[in-house]
Amino acid sequence: MSEQKTALVTGANKGIGYEIVGQLLAKGLRVILTARNEVAGKKAASSFQGDVQFLPMDVSDDTSIEKAAQAYGERADALDVLINNAGIYPDENVDILTIPREQLVKTFQTNTFGPLSVTRAFLPFLKKSGGARVINISSGYGQIDGLSHKVPSYCLSKLALNGITIMLDQALRPQGIAVYVMCPGWVRTEMGGANASRSVEEGADTAVWLAIDGPQHLSGKFFRDRKVIAW
Ligand SMILES: NC(=O)c1ccc[n+]([C@@H]2O[C@H](COP(=O)([O-])OP(=O)(O)OC[C@H]3O[C@@H](n4cnc5c(N)ncnc54)[C@H](OP(=O)(O)O)[C@@H]3O)[C@@H](O)[C@H]2O)c1
Repeated sequence: MSEQKTALVTGANKGIGYEIVGQLLAKGLRVILTARNEVAGKKAASSFQGDVQFLPMDVSDDTSIEKAAQAYGERADALDVLINNAGIYPDENVDILTIPREQLVKTFQTNTFGPLSVTRAFLPFLKKSGGARVINISSGYGQIDGLSHKVPSYCLSKLALNGITIMLDQALRPQGIAVYVMCPGWVRTEMGGANASRSVEEGADTAVWLAIDGPQHLSGKFFRDRKVIAW
């Protein structure tokens, strides 16, 4: 029997991240559920029955990320799967002509620089895995054809996250680490709203598939519904 694998999911106290944790646990992985809100994160972790542990981590804050990585190192040696799921969608009543510079920066801190910082902080553990995978949760709004001037900071933050995925693949593929980016579709969560077309189960599916069965040679690609899609 192969050794139990460990996955870490960011922003997993609710929504797609929470569902990803449940699906990974059901497949027998050990899961580190992380969240910026300690109360919500602990509550979410305790709602599962499998091998799950909570770690506080705010992905917009390098000090918090470094603390989480240090705490992880005290519990474990290697990390097999990192899912950068945490994200915000703050573009209300703005467009590309009016959005304040500060709002662009704020969205990038979470959606773009967050996944990069978390990946770098957990890299020593990923390197020890032997076939680790990093999965970035992006959006169709980050596709070239999906850009909308009415959703400026979110679209640009995900477009740049796609670029980060390409670069991380270039840097990490030679070390045996696969890096993927995926769009969950429009999902019924707090972010997606009640009218979204997909369930959280459907939204989490491709991330979980990539985490367990993602083809190594498709590292650096953009996925939806388990298929490669255009940038
Ligand atoms: N829902 C959709 O239709 C859709 C479509 C395309 C892509 N996505 C992407 O899918 C991912 C998950 O979205 P969702 O629909 O599940 O959204 P959600 O229900 O709003 O959940 C977002 C999660 O991210 C966490 N988060 C936000 N900022 C954070 C930070 N600085 N540090 C740590 N955690 C943070 C939130 O924590 P709090 O509870 O503390 O706020 C929450 O747990 C996001 O990356 C999103 O952009 C979603």
